[in-house]
Amino acid sequence: MTRKPLVAGNWKMNKTTAEATDLAQQLSYRVDQAYEGVDILVCPPFTDLRSVYVTLDFDKSRIAMGAQNVYFEESGAYTGEISPVMLKEIGCSYCIVGHSERRGLFNETNDDINHKVRALQSHGITPLLCVGESLQIRQQRNALEFISDELRACLLGNPVAAADDLVVAYEPIWAIGTGHTATPEQAQDVCGQIREDLANIYSPEIAEQVRILYGGSMNEGNAALFAACPDIDGGLIGGASLDANKFMPIVDCFR
Ligand code: PGA
Repeated sequence: MTRKPLVAGNWKMNKTTAEATDLAQQLSYRVDQAYEGVDILVCPPFTDLRSVYVTLDFDKSRIAMGAQNVYFEESGAYTGEISPVMLKEIGCSYCIVGHSERRGLFNETNDDINHKVRALQSHGITPLLCVGESLQIRQQRNALEFISDELRACLLGNPVAAADDLVVAYEPIWAIGTGHTATPEQAQDVCGQIREDLANIYSPEIAEQVRILYGGSMNEGNAALFAACPDIDGGLIGGASLDANKFMPIVDCFR
């Protein structure tokens, strides 16, 4: 089967509501029927979700919207948190989980992420699960084993029955926001192994359907190299997703 590529923009903690609306408008204006072969996703901060959704919906845009984080309970006394019910209602069809910035800066564990994956799946939101190794782990030549363990821990007990139940993003921590990308060979090695792991955890059929993205300093200059790798089905883009002129050329490499 052929997997439809997915190019996702992780806006992180950038863009006021006015700026986010402006960027959503610019992207929506450019994404016409010529982009039918690729799924495009933007993940703005929580405070921008409503206005980005309204902008994309008004334009009947093909661009999907996702969040950058979620809490796994449905409601209750969890000051400062946002539930999957709220994300669903506001128009999110995806949510990033397990980003290394959340793991590193906010102490999220594989167990927390496992609960988040389950909560999202049970509300029909596709989890975009990030895994990736530190520079130290790569230098110790333990990257593949580390990523397998991380993937298994985050997915343990979480069923995946269809392509939309899960997207995995391989994001080596040393490549995020640094300008140092993994080589296409390094990225393909890991993404190929993630697919094998998914075949073992679920089934070869499911592994063939689930999209695996690469993320970490992807830009218009290197995206085509990743797009050519057999197990890389798109990108998770940080810095270059904040400017339509930088994001769209990356999308073009995958369509
Ligand atoms: P980057 O970020 O493209 O700026 O390296 C990627 C990410 O953190 O998802």
